[in-house]
Order: sequence, then C-alpha cells, then structure tokens
Amino acid sequence: MKLIIDTDPGVDDALAIALAAALPEVEIAGLTTIFGNTFVEQSSRNARYLLDMLGVDAPVAEGARLPDGASTYEPSANVHGPEGFGDLDVVPEVGKNDPRPAAEFLCDLAAQTPGELVVCAIGPLTNIANALKLDRGFAENLGRLVIMGGAFNCPGNITPQAEANIYHDALAADAVFASDLNMSMVGLNATMQTLLTVEDFAQMAATAPKVGGFVNRISQFYLEFYRSVGVTEGCPMHDATAILACTNPERFTFMPAGLQVSTKAADYGATIEHPDRTPVQIARAVEADWAVAHVHAQLAALS
Ligand code: BDR
Ligand code: CA
Repeated sequence: MKLIIDTDPGVDDALAIALAAALPEVEIAGLTTIFGNTFVEQSSRNARYLLDMLGVDAPVAEGARLPDGASTYEPSANVHGPEGFGDLDVVPEVGKNDPRPAAEFLCDLAAQTPGELVVCAIGPLTNIANALKLDRGFAENLGRLVIMGGAFNCPGNITPQAEANIYHDALAADAVFASDLNMSMVGLNATMQTLLTVEDFAQMAATAPKVGGFVNRISQFYLEFYRSVGVTEGCPMHDATAILACTNPERFTFMPAGLQVSTKAADYGATIEHPDRTPVQIARAVEADWAVAHVHAQLAALS
C-alpha cells in the first residue's frame, strides 16, 4: 500500500510513523506536514528527523502554517512538549523539505497512481482541504483517506464536544466531510480504547532500542499529560490506531454516516451527522488488545 501520512509530529505521530515504517505491507510514499501539536516548521523538521532515524528514504512536503482564515496559532506544547517530542529541547535538522507545498505534493502523487494512494491524516485537515481546492481530480484520484480525528456521540478531548485535530481547523474539516472522498474517520470512539502503559513503552525500548527507545523517551511527557487530566490507565495511541485502520480495517467496527463540523459557539468543532452528505465510515470500536499487540510485534522488527 502506497501511503502518505499527513502529520504534526507530535509524540503519538512519531509512534504512528514508526509503525508505518515497520509494517511490511506499507510503502511510505511521503510525509506531508501541518501545524497542530507544533508549528509547521517544527513538524517538518521532526518528520525529517524521524524518517532518517527509521532509515526511510521518502520526501517531506511542508503544508499549512495556519488554520483556514486564521492569523495566529498556538501549538499544543502542554501535550507534546515545546519541540513536539516530549521533554527533548533540541531536535537536529536533517535533510531538506520537498520543494512542493503539501497540497501540491498530495495532488501529484494521487494523480500518478489513480485510485491507489492512501492518505492517513493525523493532524488538522487543512492540507487535505487545500488539495481538494487545488485539483478537482484529487477526490477521484485518491484511493482512500483515513482521518484520525473527531468524536461521534462521545466526549471530546479539547472541549467537551470536540476532538483536537478537527477543532484546530473546523472549516477545513467541514470542507473535507462535504467532499465525495472515500473516507474513514478514526476518532476518539476508537482511539480512546487503544491505551499504552509505562510498561508498553518500556517493552518497545527493550525490543527495538533505537526506535522503541526514542518512542519510550518522548512518551513519558505525553503519559504525564494524560495522568494530569485523569486518564491514569495509560495514553491513547490515537495516530497509530488510524494507521492500523489503513492496513487492517477488518479489526474495526464501522458505521456509515454523513458528517459536518459544528461552527456554533456551543459545540465548536463537534463532528455531527449530516444526512445529505457522502457517508464517512466512522470507526465505533477497535479490537484494542489486538491493536496493542500488533504494534508491539511490528515495532520489534525495527532496530
Ligand atoms: C490528536 O491530536 C493530537 O494531539 C494527536 O497527535 C492526535 O493526532 C488526538 O486528538
Ligand atoms: Ca497528530
């Protein structure tokens, strides 16, 4: 499977990218970056650093700096750390970005392999909305879009109603849901089920010292954030769960429904049903024990 990950790395993004690199059925065709957990320049630097660590030779194309129509943005440093990698305060610059902006890169790769490319979007959806605006053929050329985001009739994580990736660019997310892309939404309904504990991260460090050791190191900050908000059983592997929905959809329970994103003050960023839109496959549940075990088994193949 040719896969582009649209990402804001980000602690759980780092695990998702490592997982994608480890999965034998996945070819990472590139990473596109987005503001979100970090400023977009940090996202791109972190994406290049991760690919280098993983030994993956694939381009990184930088995307949007700001949400649709916004003039400022403040990253989620309290969740992912000041540089996006937990308590690390220096992340080396490795390599250079692809000269194309993310939206153009996405359109080009989709056009090269009509119907085949899978995009897993694990940050705000601005780049995907921009690709839809840039090329009328994008929706048809793209094989499938798998979104980590949203909370369907379940509590949000940035407000009581909204999930962070959708909330951070609600207009872009709504434009994506209004399109006729072939899409799945892997939101908090599923990802709050796939929890990783301190022991899980220690096991990753033991089986794959370089990559698992890095994931273990940066995840301590992320675990601490979740403890601070009352999630004491572990931290959700939001983004890695979306990668698993690309390769193993049979492990998820989906429900089709058209979606819109609320822009009303009372529930801004909430993902709610829209009966007239193209149905999105909404993940209602995942085989969580399988998901965690599969991540361990695949990461063990890395160094
Ligand atoms: C999403 O928001 C970010 O903090 C994570 O990386 C994930 O993509 C979870 O709501
Ligand atoms: Ca993310």
